[in-house]
Amino acid sequence: MAHRIAVIAGDGIGTEVMPEGIRALEAAAKRFNIPLEFTPFEFGSCDYYLEHGSMLPDDWFEQLKSFDALFYGAVGWPDKVPDHISLWGSLLQFRRRFDQYINLRPCKLMPGIKSPLAGREPGDIDFYVVRENTEGEYSSIGGKMYEGTEREIVLQETVMSRTGVDRVLKYAFDLAQTRPRKKLTSATKSNGISITMPYWDERVAEMAKRYPEIAVDKFHIDILTANFVLHPDWFDVVVGSNLFGDILSDLGPACTGTIGIAPSANINPEGNFPSLFEPVHGSAPDIAGKGIANPIGQIWSGAMMLEHLGYQEAGEAMVTAIEAVLSDGDSQVLTRDVGGQGSTESLGKAIAERISR
Ligand code: NAD
Ligand code: IPM
Ligand code: MN
Repeated sequence: MAHRIAVIAGDGIGTEVMPEGIRALEAAAKRFNIPLEFTPFEFGSCDYYLEHGSMLPDDWFEQLKSFDALFYGAVGWPDKVPDHISLWGSLLQFRRRFDQYINLRPCKLMPGIKSPLAGREPGDIDFYVVRENTEGEYSSIGGKMYEGTEREIVLQETVMSRTGVDRVLKYAFDLAQTRPRKKLTSATKSNGISITMPYWDERVAEMAKRYPEIAVDKFHIDILTANFVLHPDWFDVVVGSNLFGDILSDLGPACTGTIGIAPSANINPEGNFPSLFEPVHGSAPDIAGKGIANPIGQIWSGAMMLEHLGYQEAGEAMVTAIEAVLSDGDSQVLTRDVGGQGSTESLGKAIAERISR
């Protein structure tokens, strides 16, 4: 039976990189004989909101829950719909309702790409950010008081549950266990945020006892961002709360040359609900409509999706094809963010062609 994939392209460059993601997946499916069936959905975009007054239909959960995976582009168009409405009305609902509590974001300096960090070569930067994806700073507990008066107060609580923290830490430790360096770095801020962050540290220390072979260190988020730039080679698996993980997973890819290549997997490890695969980047209104967005983040997310569905070899072949095309360095093929003059389509087609070989 075919694996059923729900496709939500979203907004802006999401609609431009999605066809290239599908092109690459179809090439891999053909070569490795994987039955994939794509079902596109219009909802989850700002145009859908303008027409219907909400980002998703009332029955979205029922419509999507039986899919094997969700393949997402990017959402958000602040000139049409305020970001907190479009994002809380779509992507953040999927993460929560489908309990995708892991956001796995690899960060790797690829051959052929110049890092903005002096002297860094492929091999120097190769780590994972494991981001808590359902609670933490992204909580809906809070509100406004005394609105419109001098005493106006806004409040949004950070939520850390023992289950929520432990399950993301366990995933990160297990991942570190599979890596040659067996190293885990925790992002904290327990010097300034005096209740939730010391709790996070406490749970890390507790979990570390179960993994004596893993080398564990921690940094406060401020110096950690500095160390991403100064010593990216120190990192192997970096685990952080929802907000810290968000910040680190743009900074890491920027250190590898462009956020346009960064993929992510929003995973429900138990498989009770579909997991969601999407590039780390957003809808990029500044370059949307020009056909110049880098499709690699979308394609690599597709590779993570195949691996999640059990097709390790096919996923690896997709990443190898990405690396091969980047190594070729053909400026007519590569997009501008990686030094070329090509288009979303030229890069997408070159990768799909490589996958087919
Ligand atoms: P962004 O990631 O969309 O863009 C940041 C910068 O990176 C822009 O200059 C953009 O041109 C560039 N960029 C991004 N992706 C690229 C690609 N594939 N190729 C080449 N260049 C690329 O972030 P932003 O500007 O903060 O957000 C724009 C909109 O996207 C907002 O509505 C925001 O809320 C939303 N957003 C959505 C997601 C998501 O759907 N997962 C993620 C981040 C931001
Ligand atoms: C991401 C994005 C989202 C997040 C936004 C768009 C809500 O930045 O996936 O990294 O903060 O999680
Ligand atoms: Mn982000």
